[in-house]
Amino acid sequence: MATTPELATRAETQSIALSVNGRKVVVTRSPLQRLSRMLRDDLGLIGTKVGCDAGDCGACTVLLDGEPVCACLVGMGQVEGCEVTTVEGLAQREAGIRLQQSFLEHGAVQCGACIPGMLVAATALIEKNPSPDEREVMDAIGGVLCRCTGYRKIIAAILDTGTATPHQLSPAAGAAVGQRLIRLDGKRKIEGSEIFGADETPGGALAVRAIRCPYDRARFQFGDLAAFVRENPGIEAVFTARDVPGKNCYGVIARFADQPVFAETEARFRGEAVAAVVGEAAAIEDLDAARFPVRWEELPALREIDAALASGATLLHANRAENVLVRGRVVRGDVEKALATADFVVEGEYETGFVEHAYIEPEAGFARRVGDQIEVQACTQSPYMDRADVAAILGIPPEAVRIIPTAVGGGFGSKLDLSVQPFVALAAWHLQRPVRMVYSRNESIVSTTKRHPARMRLRGGCSRDGKLVGLDLVADFNTGAYSSWGPTVAARVPVHGSGPYYVPHYRALTRAVHTNLVPAGAFRGFGVPQSTIAQEQLYDELADRVGMDRLEFRILNALDNHTPTVTGQVLGEGVGIRACLEALRPRWKVAHEAAADFNSKASGPLRRGVGVAGMWYGCGNTSLPNPSTVRIGLKRDGRIALHQGAVDIGQGANTIVTQICADALGAPMDRFDLVSGDTAITPDCGKTSASRQTFVTGKAAYMAGTQLRQAILALADACSCAIEFGDGEVVVREDGTSRSIALGDLPLDQHGYVMTSEATFDPPTSPLDENGQGTPYAVFGFGAHMAEIEVDTELGTVRVLKVTAAHDVGRAINPTLIEGQIEGGVAQGLGMALMEEFFPGKGENLHDYLIPSAGDIPPVESILIEDPSPIGPFGAKGIGEQAVIPTAPAILNALHDAVGVRLQKVPATPDRVRAAILAAQSGDLSG
Ligand code: FES
Ligand code: FES
Repeated sequence: MATTPELATRAETQSIALSVNGRKVVVTRSPLQRLSRMLRDDLGLIGTKVGCDAGDCGACTVLLDGEPVCACLVGMGQVEGCEVTTVEGLAQREAGIRLQQSFLEHGAVQCGACIPGMLVAATALIEKNPSPDEREVMDAIGGVLCRCTGYRKIIAAILDTGTATPHQLSPAAGAAVGQRLIRLDGKRKIEGSEIFGADETPGGALAVRAIRCPYDRARFQFGDLAAFVRENPGIEAVFTARDVPGKNCYGVIARFADQPVFAETEARFRGEAVAAVVGEAAAIEDLDAARFPVRWEELPALREIDAALASGATLLHANRAENVLVRGRVVRGDVEKALATADFVVEGEYETGFVEHAYIEPEAGFARRVGDQIEVQACTQSPYMDRADVAAILGIPPEAVRIIPTAVGGGFGSKLDLSVQPFVALAAWHLQRPVRMVYSRNESIVSTTKRHPARMRLRGGCSRDGKLVGLDLVADFNTGAYSSWGPTVAARVPVHGSGPYYVPHYRALTRAVHTNLVPAGAFRGFGVPQSTIAQEQLYDELADRVGMDRLEFRILNALDNHTPTVTGQVLGEGVGIRACLEALRPRWKVAHEAAADFNSKASGPLRRGVGVAGMWYGCGNTSLPNPSTVRIGLKRDGRIALHQGAVDIGQGANTIVTQICADALGAPMDRFDLVSGDTAITPDCGKTSASRQTFVTGKAAYMAGTQLRQAILALADACSCAIEFGDGEVVVREDGTSRSIALGDLPLDQHGYVMTSEATFDPPTSPLDENGQGTPYAVFGFGAHMAEIEVDTELGTVRVLKVTAAHDVGRAINPTLIEGQIEGGVAQGLGMALMEEFFPGKGENLHDYLIPSAGDIPPVESILIEDPSPIGPFGAKGIGEQAVIPTAPAILNALHDAVGVRLQKVPATPDRVRAAILAAQSGDLSG
């Protein structure tokens, strides 16, 4: 890798000649300018992604004279006369072409933000070593981070280059569901042509930089802002709270909305914006934020839950007593009595920290004003929610706001909240010029939501024969300065805190507590990964007390179709947890035998262990409406427009929703033209979160497809028969006769189609009563993971050897994409268990905040159970959140199995593991 250039944007420029993708180019640039900037800005080679600008993520990897380098670390002065190959140039290299195809075939592509860097790094390897082994592949891509895939399919794609079995792009009509189809947006992602948030810059666009509070809490006063604008060439304007024409307040849950675009007099967390400076891109890039006229007065801050709850603590929000944002509660039966009479009772206390989303694409986008309307093009998981908030901020009707979602380079929940949108919208609105904003990695980490830190206390009891009788859970979540998804976390955890088991007596009380830290929000699982860490370790303790096998304990207690959940819901059908646990049974036995054999022979510090954990997760909003509406239109040329607004953040909604719709309609996949989630042209499919898109939007697509089929049959005066979609015609065949409908002759409807079908699906749920009883979700996904690990008892390090993941997905619409979700979830769960903890104010970059890299991820065996949901499309359930939930507790249970220690606080970093081992050896088992 090249050395870091001393970066400066105002150095003298010089003419630099090089070859890029086989083409000679001469550019005039500062020798200190980053190669990545030149490629993207001067040559428009947007396939080279910038995830950190610091050499940490590898997204910008290009070949420099055949060697992989981080283009963000290479100065233009270093490339004179060199040959540079970007992802766009791989089509000229045989290895590159084969790798691109192999990535598609293997489902190695999810969001796509890392894929250019991965492909380039892999090309360098394959050109030198056409038959690498797995370790060589891991080494070659070790510098390129991926947050979505868990690397396994990427590794398989590189190992398999040129030998993968091609998957049908468009199976016969009616045969798409269940097929391992290549994702529809995959080609753009492997070519580097996909448009992410930072990949478009409208002509004449200004740039914006937010001025953010450097303290956890501070009062502030501005100096002379007009003079600042006057005295800084290229700066056009400064905006503050006074310039917000509508409400200086937004939030993902309207009832709890509390976050200002700009703090008004006091900033409540480090990283909160107080002003935005707008100007020419070069001027903004050169802006020294330290010279911005603002005087800070640091104030005492509340960082810990206990401090925030203490009597007399300063309230972050005057209307929220005790700094409690919201409480959650589910109570069933009499837990005190049940625990008092239980044969065995165990208790435990567990803590988890902030976890950073660390998607490879930092937040980015632009806005432009079109008359009295504003258009915002940005990466987002929730276009219609963005529309509502931007409208309220600007004081204009929602119809005057158009949100155009770009491809999303990973979201995992954080891109549900606004980021760049209010800044670019406000500036473009006032200045009547396009305005663009791209978060730096540091800005992304400092200002966007995190996984909630949790502190959980549990008591659980069971009978002598291992039947659970009661569970008592108390959990507090550090929700940071603003509400974001705190209410959802506080509501979801009590519903899920029992795990997928029959617990007749149950009490779960939660609080989301405000502190002066970065807001905690949605992160894959909405608090359930944290509570599962506690509950599944407690169940292991109970099984041990009973003297039962830990897997059999879970199988004995598993929910079935007829046992009530802790909210009193009887699901009736589709409860696949027992099948998931039973699928692990043979592997569990083998794994234990192997670990025991290893340990019996071990003379050094290594010990092995095996752990299991179960999970369940309700798909969609908790007891709240969350409809999706899908529109499909038959065009005069015989093609079908599918308006599906489920934003594909890498999980594969574009492909899965199309597969469902195609089979419902009875049309081949290649007849469909996807129309994006642009709010001007596509109905609301709700947010991409809570594992709802396959289930809710998929069901709406199923209904719309079925309706259009019926409408075509009615037009042909037929009942049930084959429909063939030809060019400009639809042919209906029934009883040996056929009827052709010439589409060109039909009038166009208000949507511009000859026939339009639109359907809305809202899962049937009911509100929970004061004890949390009711029907919070129409469908649950179930799963269980088994982790096999190796612990170095001297170093405290933990190596995960294998994860076996069984998931009840109802119906596997696209098994490859589901496996991708599982493998990615396992990787995030592994990170949560062993390495990831974010400390606000420290390590706000991808160098210090570690996420798993390719070498950290073990083989993952996915077992897909199909216990159909009676409601989901073709029986499908969600998988996105489900996949991450059981990994960390399975690893932590394996740690206990291996060395007999339990950590009260995760992640299980080497220092904590080593300390726990030493404490156990000295007889202190407090953990
Ligand atoms: S952008 Fe260059 S390594 Fe991250
Ligand atoms: S596919 Fe690798 S970061 Fe998303």
